[in-house]
Amino acid sequence: MNPEIRRAAEILRAGGLVAFPTETVYGLGADASSATAVARLYAAKGRPGNHPVIIHFSSAENAFEWGKEIPPAARRLAACFWPGPLTLILKRSARAKDFVTGAQDSVGLRVPSHHVAQELLREFGDGVAAPSANRFGNISSTTAAHVREELKVELVLDGGPSEVGIESTIVDLSGAEAVLLRPGAISKAQLEKALNSKVVEKVSGSPRHSGGLERHYAPKTPALLVPPHALDAEIARRKDAVAVLAFSRPDERVEYWIRMPREPRAYAQRLYAALRELDGAQCETILIETPPETEEWTAIRDRLSRATG
Ligand code: TXA
Ligand code: MG
Repeated sequence: MNPEIRRAAEILRAGGLVAFPTETVYGLGADASSATAVARLYAAKGRPGNHPVIIHFSSAENAFEWGKEIPPAARRLAACFWPGPLTLILKRSARAKDFVTGAQDSVGLRVPSHHVAQELLREFGDGVAAPSANRFGNISSTTAAHVREELKVELVLDGGPSEVGIESTIVDLSGAEAVLLRPGAISKAQLEKALNSKVVEKVSGSPRHSGGLERHYAPKTPALLVPPHALDAEIARRKDAVAVLAFSRPDERVEYWIRMPREPRAYAQRLYAALRELDGAQCETILIETPPETEEWTAIRDRLSRATG
């Protein structure tokens, strides 16, 4: 056993916080059974206390102990996508206390695939509450260095850059129908195929789901989405210093330009690091070229619309 993992598990058992890598983004972990540990977690993030958190487990078997009346759809999705970038909202069992569910009757459960997360969760042996490792409202962290910029934590496990790069897909199975609350790497089409039934899209603006807040995942610099055909004219028109995130080649009128991949998975992987970099470029506005309207870009469009919200 890696001594750092053992130390991390000890910190969690003592009610402390540990940041750890997952395949989506880095998480800030606390013992999900401890009210004081979870209170510490909310304080570290500057997060309002009524927001529910996702609880992480090494296996579906452990995860389902925190839910009740587990529907067949949950077992189906767990079998297809866990470990992986999917969070299931289920009716909660007595294990999930008010302080992790925002006093709702449901609980968010996830089994991440990153090997460091798996080792930590196995060593700890129970649920770890872990929101994304960033200050509330900010861009999520996809490297250990980002976590250290965002938060003061005793231990940050470094598992390299996150492979997926954006937060997990969230599906609510606590009601009569499957509802997509947050799009992610696992698409609605993949979920529907696995379930062989329809998945409904969420009613937007639900305050119970912080990913549902308008301005979230946002850089500090004002950011603006610009359609591809309008980018050139927008750059020409602006008097302020702009930084650009685009698919096309750098334009010499612009000092700070990041060229993004045209493939959505590669784009997602780089997105948050790129937004952080542009945020640090000391420009007045960030212009972001709007990605295609196709389904494979849904999760990215969702994050970009919040970053510019
Ligand atoms: O990829 C991810 O999901 C990352 C990594 C660390 O696992 N975690 C993450 O956590 O994004 P967080 O706290 O930043 O976002 C979790 C979202 C929030 O929008 C929260 O409101 C929602 O999940 N959520 C958690 N439990 C819920 C519940 N019972 N009902 C509705 N929404 C819930
Ligand atoms: Mg978050």
